[in-house]
Amino acid sequence: MRVAMIGSGYVGLVSGACLAELGHSVVCVDRDAGRIERLRRGKIPIYEPGLESLVGRNVAERRLAFATDLEAALRGVDVVFIAVGTPPRRGDGHADLSSVWAAARSVAATLDGPAVLVTKSTVPIGTGDGIEAVLRELRPGLDVPVVSNPEFLREGSAIGDFLRPDRVVVGSDDAHGHQVMRALYAPLLHRGARLFETGRRNAELLKYAANAFLAVKISFINEISDLCERVGANVLDVSRGIGMDERIGPRFLEPGPGYGGSCFPKDTLALARTAHDHGMSLRLVEAVIAFNEARRPAMARKVLEACGGALRDRRVAVLGLAFKAGTDDIRESPAIAVIEAIQRAGGRVRAHDPAAMPHAADCLQDVEFAATAEECLGGAHVAVLVTDWEEYRRLPAARLRQLLRDPPLVVDLRNALDARELRRHGIRHVGMGMPEER
Ligand code: UGA
Repeated sequence: MRVAMIGSGYVGLVSGACLAELGHSVVCVDRDAGRIERLRRGKIPIYEPGLESLVGRNVAERRLAFATDLEAALRGVDVVFIAVGTPPRRGDGHADLSSVWAAARSVAATLDGPAVLVTKSTVPIGTGDGIEAVLRELRPGLDVPVVSNPEFLREGSAIGDFLRPDRVVVGSDDAHGHQVMRALYAPLLHRGARLFETGRRNAELLKYAANAFLAVKISFINEISDLCERVGANVLDVSRGIGMDERIGPRFLEPGPGYGGSCFPKDTLALARTAHDHGMSLRLVEAVIAFNEARRPAMARKVLEACGGALRDRRVAVLGLAFKAGTDDIRESPAIAVIEAIQRAGGRVRAHDPAAMPHAADCLQDVEFAATAEECLGGAHVAVLVTDWEEYRRLPAARLRQLLRDPPLVVDLRNALDARELRRHGIRHVGMGMPEER
């Protein structure tokens, strides 16, 4: 099938490359000419493992192309995706849909025949109705079903998530829309992927509800982790024990410094705002938003307490800046807020991250960036692990002991390190939701 993808950012690029990999002929369009030019030269603007080779292969085999000219890209297409950004709108937390409306108007102005128009961007309930109204107004005769096909891609494992999904969700109130989407995803469905077909509004809401539920799950274990610290229990075992119940499941039950990234914080807020617009409060979701925000200063307090209440002029080595491992994304990263709070308490921060340092350098002040984890740790009074990169997990305890000042202290906000092993080497380990090894 012939596919046009409007928006060549994270979602558009991954989805476009994966649809090409499934055998479709895909053109990714973006109004940013510089970005398209770089993509044509094989330069991938985002950090996503495996994406560069996937794009390279599909471009070489002529299934994937990049363009700025929307009119040419839409000529003769079967499916048009809108995959533009929907950042939080300044001031009110609603999703900013200006790029979505602009894309819908461009499609209405340029489409030359029947096609299906699909939103991949995360958009509030009712957006599909709005897009349909735009099409009806600008091109009354054109028969274009508007479909919602939300993405469930995690940064860092987006290609696997697309090609081996838990489910493909298609929301449409039009039988032809469903039929075309079934044909589009046929290669995935033949490999056993589950298709969930529903109405358009359901699909739009379901995406927000899925992210909000995961945010609830993470916050729940974070709260239980805090309780474990008070009562002397170990959250790792508590989490494992509850996760064995199939109704709960083991994933997204790892305590940490709170969820971050470009999705959970934005989507929980937008969902709460939608509810307000409809005269109700999502009290559970609102509690989660507030809890997660409070978690950042709470993590800084945890570091302060571990240091005996004094951080002034202490050298603090912060390991990890990205909001999670496997990405260079620092949007809503707990690490940034934790660092700023440590600085306010007088601590001097040296930080390291395998991928996110260039981004972090733009938004942090008075932070020294170290080229390696070892350089970051050398001579520090305390190491604070915020992002659980694999290379930090592999740091030998003996080496940590040599690098840190006496008495060596590690505050491990992800429970990434082996507490017992550190203790054996004389390092004090303060983890999440667990008693300290003595
Ligand atoms: C999330 C969802 O997982 C995707 O399904 C969704 O498509 C995407 O948002 C989106 O809406 O586009 P992502 O933000 O890339 O994906 O990251 P996750 O892997 O879900 O992690 C989110 C945050 O939760 C991170 O800060 C992570 O460290 C934290 N987390 C996750 C925990 O603190 N504990 C856990 O057990 C799991």
